[in-house]
Amino acid sequence: SQRKKIAIIGGDGIGPSVTHEAKLLLEIYRDKAGLPLDLWELDLGADRYLRDGVTFPKEIQIAVQRECAAVLLGALGDPRVPGLEHARDILFGMRFGFDLYANVRPVKALSDRLVPLKGRGAKDVDMVVFRENTEGVYVGMGGQFKRGTPDEVAINEDLNTRKGVERIVRAAFEFAKRTGKKRVCMADKSNAMRHAHELWLRVFDEVRREYPEIESRHLYVDALCLLMIQDPSQFEVLVMNNLFGDIVTDLGAALQGGLGMAASANVHASDPTRVAMFEPVHGSAPPLAGKDIANPFAAILTVGMMLTHLGWPDEETRIERVVAAAIEEKACTVDVGGTLGTRAAAAWVRERVAKEL
Ligand code: NAD
Ligand code: IPM
Ligand code: MN
Repeated sequence: SQRKKIAIIGGDGIGPSVTHEAKLLLEIYRDKAGLPLDLWELDLGADRYLRDGVTFPKEIQIAVQRECAAVLLGALGDPRVPGLEHARDILFGMRFGFDLYANVRPVKALSDRLVPLKGRGAKDVDMVVFRENTEGVYVGMGGQFKRGTPDEVAINEDLNTRKGVERIVRAAFEFAKRTGKKRVCMADKSNAMRHAHELWLRVFDEVRREYPEIESRHLYVDALCLLMIQDPSQFEVLVMNNLFGDIVTDLGAALQGGLGMAASANVHASDPTRVAMFEPVHGSAPPLAGKDIANPFAAILTVGMMLTHLGWPDEETRIERVVAAAIEEKACTVDVGGTLGTRAAAAWVRERVAKEL
């Protein structure tokens, strides 16, 4: 079959080290399992930006879009770049530039030990959030007026299009149908954001009629946050706008053992042959950088999502099972109750995976 080229961007802070561990896992799949993967490391991030002003060059964007099946990204954000210009150029350059409208973020606990809620376990935390990834307040529409005066006004507009809302809602239902999930819940704030979010309500009501076998539900996003803590077992597939998806998935990460356990995919859901981008949900965690303590499992589970996307779903299952075993045996970093460093925890998982291949 055809070879798959994968661009790798470590980025900033803990990004390069967790991405390096994930890359070593991809190398095992290439060298031991014979998967037709070509790995292409890109030197992008704060260091590069501070060195020569480069953020995300057009020719790289074009090459990635033309040649790559996937991108593996670590994290972006560095205290030396307070305006985060490079981070936005690279991260949004892919999410918006490649039209990766579905940010798929599983909230799945791999062990009872990781669930912080009293009386709850892993069986209660297993949902997938579909975060709209190309619209909302993230489009950057707005401005600052009378800046620096007492009359200053600052505005960010919440942009929602019929097509944009419909395709993410549909992606959530299609995913539910494909994976045998029975419930889809859409969360908005249509009680306060009348114009922008009434569109979500209306589109959700239309699309759900096409999926009568799936139970659909609407919640205001504040109530969703409450219920995710009170009883997360009621949720299977969630769909919401860009900003709410960002916030709800950090809340979700807390239910699965922290940001060190949360993986994600950015895809053009209706056409999986287009380049997709895979990244842990966490950021660059500057205080943890360079100390060999960051949890590499979010990045490793992200590789699992990538392998499913590329056509090897059994490998995601395998990676998940091995990471769960690492958690069970405390072969993990301190944030999830282990004693190992970043490198040793990742090596433990790689050795197990390699033995099975
Ligand atoms: P963060 O995700 O970097 O950290 C939040 C908390 O989670 C911190 O306590 C951190 O120590 C912990 N944490 C995160 N990843 C971890 C891991 N792998 N192992 C163990 N603990 C982990 O969020 P922040 O501190 O708000 O942001 C830091 C920088 O990262 C900012 O510049 C922010 O803009 C950026 N950021 C980037 C992305 C991305 O690249 N997609 C995502 C989120 C934040
Ligand atoms: C994420 C991050 C980004 C977002 C930041 C870095 C702009 O929080 O990927 O979750 O808000 O999308
Ligand atoms: Mn976030």
